Amino acid sequence: MTKLAKVFAVVVLLTLPTPQLTAQWAPLATDANAQNRIQWWKDARVGLFIHWGVYSILGRGEWVQWAEQIPTTEYAKLMAQFRPEHLSADKWAETAKDAGMKYVVLTARHHDGFALFDDPGSDFTAVKSAAHHDLVADYVKAVRSAGLGVGLYYSPLDWRFPGFFLPDLYMDSAIALREQYRRQISELATHYGKLNILWFDGGGNEWLGFGGVQFNGRWYARPADQPYTGKFDWQDDQVVGQLREKQPNIVINDRTDAPADFRSREGDGALGKFDNQTPWELCTTIVEGAWGYQAGVKVKPLDRILRLLIGAAGRDGNFLLNVGPRPDGEIDQSQAERLHELGDWLKRNGESIYGTRGGPWLPGEYGVSTHRGNYVYVHVLKIPDSGTLVLPTLPTRVVKVTDLDGNSVSYSQDDKNTALKVPPAGADTVDTIIKLELAEPWNTSAVVPVKSENTRFP
Ligand code: GLC
Repeated sequence: MTKLAKVFAVVVLLTLPTPQLTAQWAPLATDANAQNRIQWWKDARVGLFIHWGVYSILGRGEWVQWAEQIPTTEYAKLMAQFRPEHLSADKWAETAKDAGMKYVVLTARHHDGFALFDDPGSDFTAVKSAAHHDLVADYVKAVRSAGLGVGLYYSPLDWRFPGFFLPDLYMDSAIALREQYRRQISELATHYGKLNILWFDGGGNEWLGFGGVQFNGRWYARPADQPYTGKFDWQDDQVVGQLREKQPNIVINDRTDAPADFRSREGDGALGKFDNQTPWELCTTIVEGAWGYQAGVKVKPLDRILRLLIGAAGRDGNFLLNVGPRPDGEIDQSQAERLHELGDWLKRNGESIYGTRGGPWLPGEYGVSTHRGNYVYVHVLKIPDSGTLVLPTLPTRVVKVTDLDGNSVSYSQDDKNTALKVPPAGADTVDTIIKLELAEPWNTSAVVPVKSENTRFP
């Protein structure tokens, strides 16, 4: 090992297992069809993310190969154990539907390179594993027939190719990886009928600066202060362009350099700011742990998940909640129960989420608001001590105020303020929803700022 390589190895070992990925800021698509194709997705509001692959067998998350520096040849042996005996794609689709999800996104291939679909050009696929089956085909069929949007996650990044990280040193490998990327996206775009979402992760030229490589059984990293400065190009525009030719209405996120339909925000901490100009989605895990299966991790409380979902809708974003099924394909009971509870909440309160836009009142200490047509839904996440929420008056008359069951709620409206007497928290303590009927529809993206402390009855 050269002196420099030793330094790299030490850097890698010190920083494992929490590699920082470079932020992606792909341009947004501005073509004539862009507004049209994203509309159903914005209305859908809630989706189920599924991380599942050979890493699930080890039960230590989807980054296990990287984190534990498992040599590629060793890792590939997991294929022989990949027998998803209890996998029922129909059951996944039913679970998603029952949870109130409107679309599903499955990891067709993660950073480890294992494809759940049939790629005749690769030896590392579900078809060539002990499963002997194209699992993406089953999944697509099941999700489609459940009437849900069909999404596939795909990572152009593949840890098996040193060229991904160090194309200057491993140009042949970089070219081979680019060919794999082009070929696999073409396979997915061609053989599975209509796809609704391609959820990329780990694409884009920025990622060349990420810097890490598996070589001779050890992992090395490019020093952070020496980003790649060469000319190699992953040609995202071409690959995504071909994908869009075959799937003209597919929507894609911003983790390649090609024009994207929506932006990804990742993790509970990334809920971020209100934005009704750029379609966006918050993705996060249902458990306190990795995206891929981890034995014995805690499931997040329902309240926390609901706050994220409601917080996203009120900021005009979507919510993509991830489960990591067991290696046999089954979703852990505790996660399945939480999904069911979420679905139960959405059954009762979904009219304030599905097909709504965030606002007009901006998020504040009180909570958030959503609206559709003549209705505004105020999601009170923190009931003021006085029991009355005071919001700045909208430039439209309020004609009626009720809860979601139609019981009236006292209110008053003057030129400055609209005061709502918040009903006592019922079963849904996390979110007391007040429904305002306006004299005219709120058909604008205009928003009204809210003073957090403004909670007095006039
Ligand atoms: C990250 C991780 C990954 C996960 C993804 C989900 O980029 O690399 O494991 O699939 O985020 O957003």
